[in-house]
Amino acid sequence: MIKIAPSLLAADFANLEKEIKDIGNADFVHLDVMDGQFVPNISFGIPVIKALRKHTGLTFDVHLMIKNPLKYIKAFADAGADIITFHVEADDDVSDTIKEIKSCQKKCGIVLSPDTPAEAVIPYLDMVDMILVMSVYPGFGGQKYIPASADKLKKIKEYIGQRDIDLEIDGGITADNVKQVIDAGANVIVAGTSVFGKENRKEAIEGLRK
Ligand code: DX5
Ligand code: ZN
Repeated sequence: MIKIAPSLLAADFANLEKEIKDIGNADFVHLDVMDGQFVPNISFGIPVIKALRKHTGLTFDVHLMIKNPLKYIKAFADAGADIITFHVEADDDVSDTIKEIKSCQKKCGIVLSPDTPAEAVIPYLDMVDMILVMSVYPGFGGQKYIPASADKLKKIKEYIGQRDIDLEIDGGITADNVKQVIDAGANVIVAGTSVFGKENRKEAIEGLRK
């Protein structure tokens, strides 16, 4: 099943309660956490996620772009994350971080930045619920989709085989390229600018679905 995950990074931060209610027809809310170290930008963190939790029943898909995810997993779990993803390029041990997410009884996912090869997922295939392929360099919304991402999705889809693992794509997704990434194997579609950049968020989500 295809799931649409609007990224709140492109929303109006002065009206987050309204924004999150406006995307009630989505499947996930994608929450981009940036620490100014792993990526050259700072976004929002634990208290904002906790505050938003009261206002929606949508699945919280928390994307950690932080240097040391391990020590913050429990805090994000307690704040209301349902799925926690972190970068294999981060400083902490990948298996230890996966185990920590699972010990909090949350779904776990690993993320690959554009320069990390598809093969990097192989050791973790029997441990994760989701794999996120970045189709832009992490750190900023509104960038242009990197076309090589489709081949990477195809490779990872093959590695996944019959396993029950969601394949998420994040960065520069629009109504014009969404079919291409779905054909390549993605089933969770992150969309920031192409949802919150539109006047009518609900219609934008339906447009992507179509
Ligand atoms: C980038 C973030 C993305 C971003 C997507 O570092 O991980 O989730 O918000 O935004 P768009 O859809 O505008 O590329
Ligand atoms: Zn993201």
